[in-house]
Amino acid sequence: MNINGIILVAGEGTRLRPLTYTLPKPLIPIMGKPLVVRIIEGLMSNGINNIYVVVGHLGFLFRQLLGDGSSLGVSIRYSEQRERLGIAHAIHRAIEDGADGELIVHLGDNYFGEGLGRFIREFRESDYDVYVVLTRHKDPTRFGNAIIQDGRIVRLIEKPREPPPNSLVMTGIYMFRDSRDVKKAFSTLKPSARGEYEITDLIQWFIDNGRKVGYSVTNSWWKDMGTPQDILDLLYLMLDEVKPSIEGEVRGEVNGRVVIERGAVVEGKVHGPAYIGRGSVIGKDTVIEHYVDVESGVVINGGSLSRSLVLSEASLDLGRARLVDSIIGPKSRVRLSSGNYSLILGEGNSIVSTA
Ligand code: G1P
Repeated sequence: MNINGIILVAGEGTRLRPLTYTLPKPLIPIMGKPLVVRIIEGLMSNGINNIYVVVGHLGFLFRQLLGDGSSLGVSIRYSEQRERLGIAHAIHRAIEDGADGELIVHLGDNYFGEGLGRFIREFRESDYDVYVVLTRHKDPTRFGNAIIQDGRIVRLIEKPREPPPNSLVMTGIYMFRDSRDVKKAFSTLKPSARGEYEITDLIQWFIDNGRKVGYSVTNSWWKDMGTPQDILDLLYLMLDEVKPSIEGEVRGEVNGRVVIERGAVVEGKVHGPAYIGRGSVIGKDTVIEHYVDVESGVVINGGSLSRSLVLSEASLDLGRARLVDSIIGPKSRVRLSSGNYSLILGEGNSIVSTA
């Protein structure tokens, strides 16, 4: 049977403003690659070569970057979700536009430490009609919850006020055996209190109609990128696994696991784990402490940085200041002289402090 991947990237990312005013969450790069590209590569390496990308907020940016997918070696088609009507509606949009057969749905702001291989294999080898991936989380009330009885999911609840007993959190990957069933289930749904067609309600239809709903619990980390802290946490997790590679020029000092991309110049100090992107310049008085990702074409002079993400073509003049837990938007200008700062900036922002 035909297998289609569906990646949902329509969301506005309101909790990540101002960054997401111009850069949708799945396009935020970490170590040189936007998350959506990592997701596509993960699907491709499991033999999924037909992908529907459901766009909404700033959809043209996805079309610009990914095109028809040929540069990545995959076929990409686009569906539009103009209104914020939820995950079930977005999946249905892709089905209306031709996604049929088996469906593997991946939210564009989710990332799995163990990759997708085991989940896709388990789904393919099973006879489940629906297959989901669950996890444990310290704050289950932020997510969909699956109540488990005798090893089976009996009920799904979206963002409960209190975590229900015997429950696990739903991650953002959902697999369906037959798109026609999803269509049928969707036709019975009503919008929830937040006005969305919920994925939990869609899958509840399968449970209520005696279909086989299977699950697996991920045995590694899982990140859903809602807030700036989530992005930074994902960065730290990815940097923990980074393989050192130095292709740029080191005139200063580099310690630990560090990636220096081609055309980058390090005149100051870089302590790993860290990533310095193409063509970036780390000035001679700058110290990159650790857990820092500097994307391409960035210029940093003076100061020190720790646990931060600096996006392309930003320019930082830090004096004796220290930046911690910060995300600096693309093409932003930061000029500081001393003190400790934690900044979340959008694209092209400018911050000047002479204190
Ligand atoms: C959505 C789903 C929720 C799931 C979460 C995973 O939540 O509705 O069931 O647990 O994604 O990332 P939302 O991103 O809409 O808050």
